[in-house]
Amino acid sequence: MRANDPLLQPYTIKHLTLRNRIMSTAHEPNYHEDGMPKDRYRLYHVEKAKGGIALTMTAGSAVVSRDSPPAFGNLLAYKDEIVPWLRKLADECHEHGAAVMIQLTHLGRRTNWNKGDWLPILSPSPVREPAHRAFPKEMEDWDFDRIIADYAAAAQRMKAAGLDGFEFECYGHLMDAFWSPATNLRTDDYNGSIDNRLRFTMRVLEAVRKAVGPDFIVGCRLVADEDWDKGLSKQEGLEICHKLKNSGLVDFLNIIRGHIEHDAPLARVIPVMGMQASPHLNFAGEVRALTRFPVFHAARINDVATARHAVAEGKLDMVGMTRAHIADPHIVKKIAEGRESEIRPCVGATYCLDRLYEGYDTLCIHNPATGREASLPQVVTRTTGKRRKIAIIGAGPAGLEAARVSGERGHEVILFEASGNPGGQIRLASQARRRRELIGIADWRAEQCERLGVSVKYNHFVEAADVRSLDADIVIVATGGLPQNMAIEEGADLAVSSWDILSGDVKPAEDVLVFDDNGAHPGMAAAELIAETGSTLEIASPERIFAAEIGGLNLVPYMQAFTRRNVRITTMTRVRTLKRQGNKILATLWNTYGEADYSTRLVDQVVIENGTSPLADLYFDLKEESSNRGELDHEAFVVARPQAIRTNPSGKFQLFRIGDAVASRNIHAAIYDALRLCRVF
Ligand SMILES: Cc1cc2nc3c(=O)[nH]c(=O)nc-3n(C[C@H](O)[C@H](O)[C@H](O)COP(=O)(O)O)c2cc1C
Ligand code: SF4
Repeated sequence: MRANDPLLQPYTIKHLTLRNRIMSTAHEPNYHEDGMPKDRYRLYHVEKAKGGIALTMTAGSAVVSRDSPPAFGNLLAYKDEIVPWLRKLADECHEHGAAVMIQLTHLGRRTNWNKGDWLPILSPSPVREPAHRAFPKEMEDWDFDRIIADYAAAAQRMKAAGLDGFEFECYGHLMDAFWSPATNLRTDDYNGSIDNRLRFTMRVLEAVRKAVGPDFIVGCRLVADEDWDKGLSKQEGLEICHKLKNSGLVDFLNIIRGHIEHDAPLARVIPVMGMQASPHLNFAGEVRALTRFPVFHAARINDVATARHAVAEGKLDMVGMTRAHIADPHIVKKIAEGRESEIRPCVGATYCLDRLYEGYDTLCIHNPATGREASLPQVVTRTTGKRRKIAIIGAGPAGLEAARVSGERGHEVILFEASGNPGGQIRLASQARRRRELIGIADWRAEQCERLGVSVKYNHFVEAADVRSLDADIVIVATGGLPQNMAIEEGADLAVSSWDILSGDVKPAEDVLVFDDNGAHPGMAAAELIAETGSTLEIASPERIFAAEIGGLNLVPYMQAFTRRNVRITTMTRVRTLKRQGNKILATLWNTYGEADYSTRLVDQVVIENGTSPLADLYFDLKEESSNRGELDHEAFVVARPQAIRTNPSGKFQLFRIGDAVASRNIHAAIYDALRLCRVF
């Protein structure tokens, strides 16, 4: 069966044979150092090569010109010093059998002048891109020759680095800004007919071909339908695909559908959890059928079955599983070894990309090893030391990960959970229908624990005496937290928590005020649930930015629900007091900048979200009996050295607490705590 698996069949493009049909499309992880793909960047891609991927498209839009300031940690392809770094990356990926290409671009208006060298940004016409908020200059005659030469020089560098090819980014950046009626308002011969709008692209391609020769692999990742009343139509997009093919200058098309000038349309191009899976696969297949040309494509094809279908049905030549590889870089290896069920699922949380757009490095919500390959292993190996007995209390994300990692290390692991199911706060969050895929984070770990022989005891509320009787070497308290209600000065007992709403324990009333003093998912998810039941809803936030902990893409579905349901959003406002008034609640609103009460609301229900306070009684009950008095050696923790603190030598076990049992944080933090701690036992 595996020998015939459509996904595992090789694919040849020009002289290059790719070992299977799975690729990772371009994505800037923001792992650069000084704009160069140094160790962190390289190790990230090498891990995918080790994991069996056929092709890794490096960079997300490595920039070819100085006046394309790096908007999100882009590699600087206009510098010669990039060549040796890319060569090292390519060589190491090649050693593991993967091909390496790179995405090149001039970002045009999709950046801002206040980065890099503070050069003015440019575009065919001075049309501002809402996402990056800069006003571009209209390209003038001398810009054309310069930028075309920059593309050719960057292309030459990529060839010199020993890459297998590159693609140009042609959606939302400079090249396609000429194609789209939304961004090209020129009156010269770079606008009008499709040939005119393609003039800049063709000039670049011709210059690039001269630079790298006819044999080098060159592709375009292009929008073939902007799906936008004022943008590029499908008919125009298909015409561009045909013209690119017929030019003989490109070797593959990597198909995009949609436009990306701000978060809402971007989320249709890169859908987040709860949105349609593989929404543009049929469209990409249509382009392939019509052009009879190599077609690559990625957009939420995050499970192997859909990827297999895409190739088996001839919709794609190469299927992009990009976030899926951020979640698990060893997908192909696991398919080939018949371990498909062990693939860590990409649940579409899009923590990865939302972090990037906020200027951080890309991290997966439930794979802390990704992007940290130098210090954390993707594969946890068995210990060569003593087999320990490890008791873990709490099967939320932290406890489950601690159990999985300790199981992989070969220890005797007992995992206790007070409720009847694994997941903790993840289970609660996944009650919201739109976010139910989150449960994959818990389910995957529960399945791994079963495979590893972890003894899991549900419906066990563990007390200190139970722990004592276990005779464990190591005790890990991962009991999470409970909603805290410190956010208001008076009348907190009149409010309910976001958890009450999410769990279904409390039904939304008719007229509701949500006070979100956290800015993260629990408050928003509760608010969405309330709004969708038809209640009248106002959300008050003390911050000047609404839902400050939620990234742009994740905010889209919330905002769409709030807009649809006429939810009133009030920022810079704190709910200060609550008082009973008849069968209603009177809320006093405080302006956080005016620093005074400024209004009141009379509502049926007030919901407060204020993070959690640690549920750590068990930890404190055990603290004095442990050999380390619960102390964590931070130095050892961050460099993955064994925990050696013995402040109480008569203690019978080492004690640690992780995740929200320490302080209210997020899923990634909880899992990262557990992996770092348990991989050294
Ligand atoms: C962190 C991150 C950065 C990205 N940066 C780029 C980019 O620079 N250029 C690009 O063409 N696509 C970029 N993408 C989009 C991906 O290439 C891909 O189209 C998208 O993630 C959808 O595919 P998937 O569902 O398989 O992840 C990025 C995606 C992620 C997650
Ligand atoms: S953060 Fe979410 S979307 Fe991104 S790779 Fe991880 S699971 Fe997938």
